Amino acid sequence: MRIVPFFAALAFYICFSLANTESIVFKVPDTFSPAPQPIADENEPLISLEGTNRALKTFDAPVDSQFDIELRDLSPGDTFFAKICWTAVDPIDITSLGYSIKPDYTARGGHWQDAPLRFFLSFEAKSNSYPLFSKPTVPINISVSAMRMGVPVDLHATIIFMTLLTGLIFIINRHYKLYNRFKNV
Ligand SMILES: *[C@@H]1O[C@H](CO)[C@@H](O)[C@H](O)[C@H]1NC(C)=O
Repeated sequence: MRIVPFFAALAFYICFSLANTESIVFKVPDTFSPAPQPIADENEPLISLEGTNRALKTFDAPVDSQFDIELRDLSPGDTFFAKICWTAVDPIDITSLGYSIKPDYTARGGHWQDAPLRFFLSFEAKSNSYPLFSKPTVPINISVSAMRMGVPVDLHATIIFMTLLTGLIFIINRHYKLYNRFKNV
């Protein structure tokens, strides 16, 4: 089905032209062995995908310094699509968007071997205005969704809709020969 990538591209284009966004696709290694649930730290930025394949959360990201968000409950071997969205009111650029996997040496009394792993998404919100942006933080939406058939799950409904619409046009065209009708107008 070559039509799926085409509509995926179209849907992406439509979504992306409506807001300021940056995105990244990443694969969790098959061998990823996540750290057991740590003691909940309310202050640590965290997105959990427990029992779901997509999540959206709003954070107050610091301006001009690196921001790390831990992603929890990712299934090993899965590919994910993360999207960062902010309003045009805040004159910032998102730079150095990336991810990292860090061993958690605190989890097993400081043992280096078999240290469980933690997965982080990171970026920097850089002010791009002059005079410099005065707010210390900016609200930023981060959504993470699993990819299925090369497409993020939160776009599947859009793609199904567009595929049905295309099918409908095709059927109507076969019945009514739209091209010939218009040609002879
Ligand atoms: C962030 O998410 C909230 C809640 O879903 C939504 O109301 C808001 O419009 C979003 N903001 C941006 C910039 O996407």
